[in-house]
Amino acid sequence: MSRPAGSVQYDNRGRVVLVTGGVHGIGRAICERWQQTGAAVVCMDVDDEAAATLPEGILFVRGDTAELSDCEHAVSFAVDRCGGLDVLINNAAIQPKASYVPQHQYSAELWARLVAVNLTGYAQMAGCALRVMLLQGSGVVCNIGSAQGHRTARQVAAYGPIKAANLLQARQWGVEYARQGIRCVSISPGAILTPMVRATLSEQGGAAALANRAPMGRIGDPDEIAAATLWMCSSAASYVTATDLLVDGGIDALAAFAEPWPMGGDVPEL
Ligand SMILES: NC(=O)c1ccc[n+]([C@@H]2O[C@H](COP(=O)([O-])OP(=O)(O)OC[C@H]3O[C@@H](n4cnc5c(N)ncnc54)[C@H](O)[C@@H]3O)[C@@H](O)[C@H]2O)c1
Repeated sequence: MSRPAGSVQYDNRGRVVLVTGGVHGIGRAICERWQQTGAAVVCMDVDDEAAATLPEGILFVRGDTAELSDCEHAVSFAVDRCGGLDVLINNAAIQPKASYVPQHQYSAELWARLVAVNLTGYAQMAGCALRVMLLQGSGVVCNIGSAQGHRTARQVAAYGPIKAANLLQARQWGVEYARQGIRCVSISPGAILTPMVRATLSEQGGAAALANRAPMGRIGDPDEIAAATLWMCSSAASYVTATDLLVDGGIDALAAFAEPWPMGGDVPEL
């Protein structure tokens, strides 16, 4: 399902955007949207096989955001091929099925990989991009966070707190670079139908249960997150920095009341 961004028109001609994790899911929708609005789009992803399915014209650079040398290479690639870097969208993150366990069941390896990709990866990419943006005196960094970074859920002992950290990273950078012409923001999706979510639907109680949790009664479309990046990273948001935008069908507002008593057993007497 593709949703146009209403009658809003964006003109990203002449702008260069680097999107991490842009081959699948939300990142893919971001790449496509930005290309449709005229930007030069560079997609960095570990999945070089599926990269062949990207629309023509989107530049692909293979890289793992957990590896600093790959981050440096991807930013240099964007600058060399496109002449600069106007927007970094930190989107690549993992939430493997095995991570749907409480804290005491985490292996050291699984914990370290989630931190490496979802937290260190964002920091490394931002560090490399910010060095370019500081020289330019302009730029936008947009972290894709999560509604689970605002409020927690069961079985997200690593993913949830790290997503909260992604929101705080954007606030930190936004404050730090506010007088250098650089804006840093985050976007927090609710449940969006992507390969990441499809892979864990059974852990989430199925598609209908997931859809029902949101006040809007449906799962979101990747394009609805892409549309939010267009606004957050445009001049229409020129006074917006160090803050987050929830794009979640209202689920954050519903908060703890969204689910029945979660842990089984008796509900305590009030
Ligand atoms: N789908 C949702 O419901 C949802 C909700 C909230 C937040 N998010 C966030 O949105 C972002 C995208 O999620 P998605 O659902 O599209 O995920 P996805 O798993 O469908 O796609 C992730 C993409 O990132 C790539 N990738 C994975 N590890 C990488 C690495 N180390 N380096 C480079 N690329 C890597 C994958 O190959 C893939 O193309 C993530 O930050 C995720 O936390 C998703």
